[in-house]
Amino acid sequence: MRKIHYFCRAFAKWMLKLKRRTKLWQHLSDQSRFLPVKRQSASSRWLMLLKRILTPRIAVSPGRKREGYLRKPSSDSMAFLLDSCTVKVLSRELLSSCKPFHCGDTDLDEFFAQDAVPNHEALLGKSYCFVLDADPATIVCAFTLSSDSVHVDHLPNARKKKINSRIAHPKQKRRYPAILIGRLAVNEEFADKGIGSEMLSAIKQFSTDPDNLADCRFLAVDAKNEEKPLHYYEKNDFRYLYSSEEQEAENLDLPLPLKTRFMFFDLIDLKKS
Ligand SMILES: CC(C)(COP(=O)(O)OP(=O)(O)OC[C@H]1O[C@@H](n2cnc3c(N)ncnc32)[C@H](O)[C@@H]1OP(=O)(O)O)[C@@H](O)C(=O)NCCC(=O)NCCS
Repeated sequence: MRKIHYFCRAFAKWMLKLKRRTKLWQHLSDQSRFLPVKRQSASSRWLMLLKRILTPRIAVSPGRKREGYLRKPSSDSMAFLLDSCTVKVLSRELLSSCKPFHCGDTDLDEFFAQDAVPNHEALLGKSYCFVLDADPATIVCAFTLSSDSVHVDHLPNARKKKINSRIAHPKQKRRYPAILIGRLAVNEEFADKGIGSEMLSAIKQFSTDPDNLADCRFLAVDAKNEEKPLHYYEKNDFRYLYSSEEQEAENLDLPLPLKTRFMFFDLIDLKKS
């Protein structure tokens, strides 16, 4: 009898864990136009759930030892955002019910407070945020996504080869589909705790969800040419499109120093991991 009791308790705990892990995905599916919500039977929902749990995740928690180009798959790559937050589309209603968002960069704060919603209404970029479950008026972090492409035809030969070497010859093109991370910021109260990295992990998985309307190969970002954001993207496996700032300035015919550096993440790495 006692054994049955222990078994039931363990099973209930496991179910609770399962529910938490799928919470983010349910929200992503519910909120996103990329992921149309389908009415599903209970059995197909369980099958989807199982599939998601069995899909390996990429871990990007800070302090984790780097192992080559990729980090080891791990379920804790989004632990805080999954367990303690809910992802939502940044809407007027949400903004009016939340405390002001401060990330330490006034331009970005203003963007999320004033421009993010009009931007989405003009179909120029959709903004999302993670709000704290314990205090839904607190925006923990926010990001904006739009469609983009990574152009390789004007790249210096060595750079072009580097990108094309990862794509089968018959499928090589002049440009590849990408999702642009237009804006991204973490509430300064939560900075340097790995939340930014968890957010990038979520964006990576968001971008490769099997239910997405369109495929995209790369995540792209015009990262601020400053030590912290560059280090942040590099440690999350983003790579520079151009080998140096000088090469990028020359190719884009821009004056030095550059305000931003173009960086990308190859989403195929998630499938391989
Ligand atoms: C950049 C930003 C998103 C990072 O978020 P975060 O939650 O602090 O990110 P993480 O904790 O995952 O990682 C931060 C990393 O930056 C490092 N860092 C902190 N201050 C730094 C500095 N002045 N110079 C270099 N690196 C710095 C941290 O040590 C950490 O790296 P580590 O794990 O190797 O130690 C956040 O700081 C932010 O919102 N900044 C303002 C907006 C912005 O710059 N957005 C990017 C636009 S391209």
